[in-house]
Amino acid sequence: MLVSGRDLLKRAVAERRAIGSFNTYNLEITRAILRAAEARDASVFLAIGTGAFEYAGFEVLVAASLAAAREASVPVAVHVDHAPDAETIARCIDAGLTSVMIDGSKLGLDENIALTRRAVDSARGVCVEAELGGIAGAEDSSGAHETSIPMTDPADASRFVAETGVDSLAIAIGNAHGFYTGEPHLDFDRLRALESAVPVPLVLHGASGISDGDLARCVELGVRKVNVNTEIRYALFESLTAVLRDGVPGYDVTKLFGAAIVAMQQAVEEKLSVFGWD
Ligand code: 13P
Repeated sequence: MLVSGRDLLKRAVAERRAIGSFNTYNLEITRAILRAAEARDASVFLAIGTGAFEYAGFEVLVAASLAAAREASVPVAVHVDHAPDAETIARCIDAGLTSVMIDGSKLGLDENIALTRRAVDSARGVCVEAELGGIAGAEDSSGAHETSIPMTDPADASRFVAETGVDSLAIAIGNAHGFYTGEPHLDFDRLRALESAVPVPLVLHGASGISDGDLARCVELGVRKVNVNTEIRYALFESLTAVLRDGVPGYDVTKLFGAAIVAMQQAVEEKLSVFGWD
């Protein structure tokens, strides 16, 4: 069922676990995410980045995502990930998305506050996530990154939330998009300080490549939404490569992509169990 992002965050806070936010680009990935959520009886964010909109076409991808969310037996919010401006936010809300993220993290604090306030005004009551601090790496393709700099400052975060009225805040504590070159080192003391300073749920981007133990610790310390993208794409590529290597009789697309859906579902389910959905 299609629900608001705010409902999901409320549930995460009440149940002290995290809602997984998984990025989709097409029907196969959407199917894998929602099958995993149904298998775990989990609520999820079905996230779409602007690169995915360009790839699949805005209207078609939104319509397919909303239809899939409505049809699901579990609560699903359809979310725009890393929208660059208030116009994109307004367009997504007009199209029926139930959760949005504005990303002004590359701006200075005052400019980020101004952009985020405009996004909150454009959201007309829909749940808004914003980002403060730098999260390294690209959203749609995985390079390898050591760390994210600068990390989120707790005093800035407190001011940011008070002045913008956002519903949730994505933080930088050593996390990055894509895989990491070495072991990622998350700053758990900073996470603790952010949790006390910020009255809204915290969001962790860049979960791919972070160990299950570290992710579970983030959830324990108050992260209530965790974003995963690269590990799903990795499962997709591994599956396609293996199946094509063996060959698919009759060029049967349902077998080629069917196997990939199973592999991606498995990747999503593994993450859901770390986030508290056993
Ligand atoms: P990963 O690709 O590292 O999983 O990050 C996903 C993300 O943060 C999407 O916003």
